[in-house]
Amino acid sequence: MFDLILRGATLPDGRANMDIGIRGERIAALQPALDGDAAKEIDVSGRLVTPPFVDAHFHMDSTLSYGLPRVNRSGTLLEGIALWGELKPHLTQEAVVERALAYCDWAVARGLLAIRSHVDVCDPRLLAVEALLEVKKRVAPYLDLQLVAFPQDGVLRSPGARDLLLRALDLGVDVVGGIPHFERTMAEGAASVRLLCEIAAERGLLVDMHCDESDDPLSRHVETLAYEAQRLGLQGRVTGSHLTSMHSMDNYYVSKLIPLMAEAQLGVVANPLINITLQGRHDTYPKRRGMTRVPELMAAGLTVAFGHDCVMDPWYPLGSGDMLEVAHMGLHVAQMTGQDAMKASFDAVTVNAARLLHLEGYGLEAGCRADLVVLQAGDPVEAIRTRATRLFVLRRGRIVSRCEPAAARLDLPGRPASVDFLFRRDHAG
Ligand code: FE2
Repeated sequence: MFDLILRGATLPDGRANMDIGIRGERIAALQPALDGDAAKEIDVSGRLVTPPFVDAHFHMDSTLSYGLPRVNRSGTLLEGIALWGELKPHLTQEAVVERALAYCDWAVARGLLAIRSHVDVCDPRLLAVEALLEVKKRVAPYLDLQLVAFPQDGVLRSPGARDLLLRALDLGVDVVGGIPHFERTMAEGAASVRLLCEIAAERGLLVDMHCDESDDPLSRHVETLAYEAQRLGLQGRVTGSHLTSMHSMDNYYVSKLIPLMAEAQLGVVANPLINITLQGRHDTYPKRRGMTRVPELMAAGLTVAFGHDCVMDPWYPLGSGDMLEVAHMGLHVAQMTGQDAMKASFDAVTVNAARLLHLEGYGLEAGCRADLVVLQAGDPVEAIRTRATRLFVLRRGRIVSRCEPAAARLDLPGRPASVDFLFRRDHAG
């Protein structure tokens, strides 16, 4: 006896006509033609059923603040950081909580049920930290929010930042962050990486740093990050976010760097929407794309995820919590248009991101948590192509969001009455 059975699912790996039996909060069985009764059954024939989307890199303390106190006129990273500095003293805990909760509603509706958010700790009040810890508690029934202590103004460069970061960790922030390329010198950047990795090792925490978010090919803090991960026994527990300088690095140097990163089992997060808009700003033409070397890093066996990074904040005026939009941009920027590469882009916003977050019970197997998304698409590529409607979103076996299939009503003589942009008719409707 099951609480719910989803009948006829297509899985991301291509298996079709699978029945998913859910008991309590977990997947109890996953097989074709599942025998047994259920309190409720849903026919999902031909629909793609996937574990939820996971955003490996976000800033929830600034989200939905677009236009406060003014918009970013140049659109650059540095004006964004300056603008955030202007906004910070005027933040209230209530407003941060309210905006974050509103964003989490969007996320759930998009089937995005786990988010790693950096939270700025360079504020003596730690107001955003307290606000997001409160949000984390409130959304826990429907969304996993993992917080990174992020010293936006530099852990060494900003007075008191080290103590504030430690206080944030004491308060319950999960992951150690950093921003070595924003420290005053290369040497201080390297020292910050060492310090922050040591803090993580002492406390048994994961690391996720903004690293080399720059077009400077000589910004090589990722090398230090890989070295420290290995020296401190943090293999598989350290992530480098952005790594945009790798786009501009000398190929010979990269041929040494990527194996070092693989040895340290570094996680990698590219943020395609943000990288393509913020990098290359000092270029005239040709303009660099600025995204890190995603296909090459994947080929070397590293876990690479795509993050959203920003939605309607000082750095980015667009977005709606749709990780399919992120995957869509990522595969374009990286020219990953082969079938396997497109599927890998889907993995970058699902399983790869879940691995970087060390999410427990994530996946599509008996025993995994019954966190699932039913999409109006037949496979991952179609989901990306159409930014497919999330028909059902399940959290711990319970439907937390639903949507009618998208279809336009046509009024054309001699043509079908509706169009839904699906390619193969066997999973249309
Ligand atoms: Fe970021």
